[in-house]
Amino acid sequence: MDIENAVMLVTGASSGVGAATARAAAAAGARVVLAARREERIRALAEELPGARAVACDVTEARQLAAAVQTALDGYGRLDVLVNNAGQGLHVPLADVDPDDFRAVLELNVVAALAAMQAVVLVMRRQGAGSIVNVSSGTTLAVRPGAGAYAASEAALNMLSSVARLELADAGIVVSTVYPFITATEFHSSLRAGGLRATAPSEDAPPELRPQRPEQVAEVILELIRCGAERADLVPERFGGSYRG
Ligand SMILES: NC(=O)c1ccc[n+]([C@@H]2O[C@H](COP(=O)([O-])OP(=O)(O)OC[C@H]3O[C@@H](n4cnc5c(N)ncnc54)[C@H](OP(=O)(O)O)[C@@H]3O)[C@@H](O)[C@H]2O)c1
Repeated sequence: MDIENAVMLVTGASSGVGAATARAAAAAGARVVLAARREERIRALAEELPGARAVACDVTEARQLAAAVQTALDGYGRLDVLVNNAGQGLHVPLADVDPDDFRAVLELNVVAALAAMQAVVLVMRRQGAGSIVNVSSGTTLAVRPGAGAYAASEAALNMLSSVARLELADAGIVVSTVYPFITATEFHSSLRAGGLRATAPSEDAPPELRPQRPEQVAEVILELIRCGAERADLVPERFGGSYRG
């Protein structure tokens, strides 16, 4: 899919990977719709980006997701790309995970991600084309202690994403998954609970554990939209990925 002129809905666009993706997409000529709960942030970003729109949206609320899709249709008459990026971590050893915290990340990282796909599929089917990039996590590529509940939620998203890719191919909708590694964003200070030294960004960390920039993830997301590959990761080989960047 061509990024230039594409109408792109980015969830979780108020910070980190979502904001960087919106910036990179707008620079490449996309018309972006920024969705997140922190309205003042997305409004400020929309003012920076030519032709961008902002819509306050809690992705766990179906009506707000529908309103975000409608914002794209009202503004541009179509919706070509969903960057399904809103998410939150939960970095607590499994013995100590509060089930309510686990339910909350499942609701956001899995149920809302599925609902967001469903919200755009109707429109994309009508158009006969579309691209969806689901933002998962490199934590799903290797089994490690400490973030099991978060990794389980993202592993569920991986499966939804892979199955959706098969189910939607005939409709001309391409579904891809991106697996970011440790990225220097607010993610690590806005975990649902817990915190892990091993996954907290630190400039003192060994080179392969140094945080990546959200702009690096954004470039990989744009490349997935362009080429339609099934997946891409930013995870070094030592941690189960294929990234050499
Ligand atoms: N940073 C990392 O090391 C890392 C590693 C692997 C994967 N990831 C994944 O990358 C994605 C982006 O995270 P990030 O690193 O950019 O973290 P971030 O800066 O904390 O961004 C998370 C975004 O999600 C949004 N969000 C959270 N709950 C929401 C809700 N209920 N409704 C709508 N938006 C919601 C936040 O916006 P509001 O609070 O304004 O709603 C924010 O824009 C996440 O899916 C995360 O799991 C991150």
